[in-house]
Amino acid sequence: MKNKIIVTGGCGYIGSHTVIELIENNYTVIILDDLSNSTEETLHRIEKITNVKPSFINIDLKDELKTKKVFKEHKDAKAVINFAAHKAVGESVQKPLMYYKNNLYSLINTLTALTENTINGFIFSSSATVYGTPKSLPITEQSKTQRPFSPYGNTKKIAEEIIDDLIKSETNLSAISLRYFNPIGAHESGLIGELPSGIPNNLMPYITQTAVGIREKLMVYGNDYPTKDGTPIRDYIHVVDLAKAHVLAVERIIKNQQEKPFEIFNLGTGNGFSVLDIINSFEEVTNSKLNYEITDRRAGDVPKLFASIDLVKNKLGWKPSKSLNEMIKSSWDWERKLNDKS
Ligand code: UFG
Repeated sequence: MKNKIIVTGGCGYIGSHTVIELIENNYTVIILDDLSNSTEETLHRIEKITNVKPSFINIDLKDELKTKKVFKEHKDAKAVINFAAHKAVGESVQKPLMYYKNNLYSLINTLTALTENTINGFIFSSSATVYGTPKSLPITEQSKTQRPFSPYGNTKKIAEEIIDDLIKSETNLSAISLRYFNPIGAHESGLIGELPSGIPNNLMPYITQTAVGIREKLMVYGNDYPTKDGTPIRDYIHVVDLAKAHVLAVERIIKNQQEKPFEIFNLGTGNGFSVLDIINSFEEVTNSKLNYEITDRRAGDVPKLFASIDLVKNKLGWKPSKSLNEMIKSSWDWERKLNDKS
């Protein structure tokens, strides 16, 4: 019997890559998604890659009754991976209530349904944003969390606190929170990748959309930060490496290998690259020039953020395998396929 895993937000960017890894590791996957920032076409693409079409239920997890009903039907699931959330930092500043409602109602309904049906494993998609502006680098899981700049980031911090409180009350629930640094890249097939709706917020899709001609010019938000070239430093991680960590987290929960019922792991590479490093690598990988301009800083950006990944290496047995150039190349291949240019 294959173990069944429920993946909320499984049609999204990180969710869809994780679904592929789960299927390839012999899990049965049930995707719950409201398609608010993804498309059903992703299911066909997952099928093309894996030869398995995952079960899909179109559901808004803010609807408590419907959520409970679906989880009851799948109470034999071994774990739930929670990707379902809005994630645009800028939009969350404009529409905070939409973010708190969507990200937290859906989380609370999911956790309620999960505990009612004694599904005892939960994996949460968190973010390095919970560290705020770090006092020292690299950031370990022991580093103090701070109130994130954006409502989006704050939903991640509050969500971790909700899970922590629940775990303390529920003896049977085990959870792992994975704090992502900066996921980029796409599946090697070129069939799935990031599909930002509207103007991208994040650096990598903005670069590839500029290079392919959708955007005129990349704006580099500030070159007066206290870094080697003045542009902010981040820890970019290939989405497929990230996806593989979720499979290991599922295994850790199923095999009862956790050292405590709520564990937290950073997911990055441990390497920091500046915005100009990324642009230079992109130009090198694609053998082209990118149109960009230095402009004012963007509110809320911290100068430097990169992870310590010792804990996740030691406890989960995970390590990143892809180089920065591989990440960039796969993002580029995906963008070109999407736009049907070769
Ligand atoms: N950047 C630009 N121009 C752009 C987009 C980004 O110069 O058009 C710069 C940013 O200023 C930043 C770097 O590129 O220095 C990376 O920016 P991203 O938006 O790609 O990533 P962030 O580090 O800002 O955001 C990531 C995650 C968020 C999370 C945040 C918390 O995408 O989900 O980290 O640190 F909230």
